[in-house]
Amino acid sequence: MKIIMLGAPGAGKGTQAEKIAEKYQIPHISTGDIFRHNISEGTALGKKAEGYIDQGLLVPDELVVDLVVDRIHQPDCTKGYILDGFPRTIPQAQYLDKALKEMGTNVKWAIDVHVPDEEIIRRMSGRRACLNCGATYHIEHAAPEKEGVCDKCGEELVQREDDHPETVKKRLEVYHEQTQPLIAYYRDKGILKVIDGTMDLEDVFKCIVAFLGE
Ligand code: AP5
Ligand code: MG
Repeated sequence: MKIIMLGAPGAGKGTQAEKIAEKYQIPHISTGDIFRHNISEGTALGKKAEGYIDQGLLVPDELVVDLVVDRIHQPDCTKGYILDGFPRTIPQAQYLDKALKEMGTNVKWAIDVHVPDEEIIRRMSGRRACLNCGATYHIEHAAPEKEGVCDKCGEELVQREDDHPETVKKRLEVYHEQTQPLIAYYRDKGILKVIDGTMDLEDVFKCIVAFLGE
């Protein structure tokens, strides 16, 4: 099961990808989490990516494509995976298609979690993230058991640098310009499923499972 999660920043891609990965026992590959991890570790990749991310811009394609293609060649990916936040531009999608073709496989579904911009701006202010394991919380909709602490790994939860309102607006602008065209790209391939992401997060998940099958 090879799945791509599409959707605007804050639509709930990460939240749903985490649940899908657990249910179907496939790795959750989030390029945003990979970058944030590299930034917190101070790696060369992290240093290159940081400035773009903090401004709400996309990291250049060449910094991301090989990283993902290397990751999907790992042995835990043979049965499938869920890509969250990749591809994000048409050239990234074309690069992925080419790499998958060379591997003798293809993407099964692209799931677009659709949420209007106004709702996204409301959601982002309440998001809290674990920079250690990538888990996502919301102070109202998905609170951790203990305030400020990750349920999964016990690390401190933080507000992401790029979740400040001005940066969120920029990320939405970049999304509409560069990432939204992927919806038509996957629709044309006949593998797009649009899900209403404004419902409660458990109901969004139920819709996804109803579509993917038990
Ligand atoms: P990335 O981390 O992928 O950020 P993003 O796409 O902006 O998406 P988010 O993680 O912000 O949102 P999400 O859709 O995962 O929502 P979440 O589940 O957290 O990327 C960060 C940056 O890295 C990019 O800006 C870019 O610079 C760079 N980058 C990454 N990949 C790249 C690529 N391929 N190419 C170039 N650059 C790249 O949910 C949001 C909040 O809402 C949470 O608090 C959650 O608890 C809550 N919530 C979720 N669902 C619901 C619901 N149904 N109802 C109520 N609340 C909900
Ligand atoms: Mg995310």
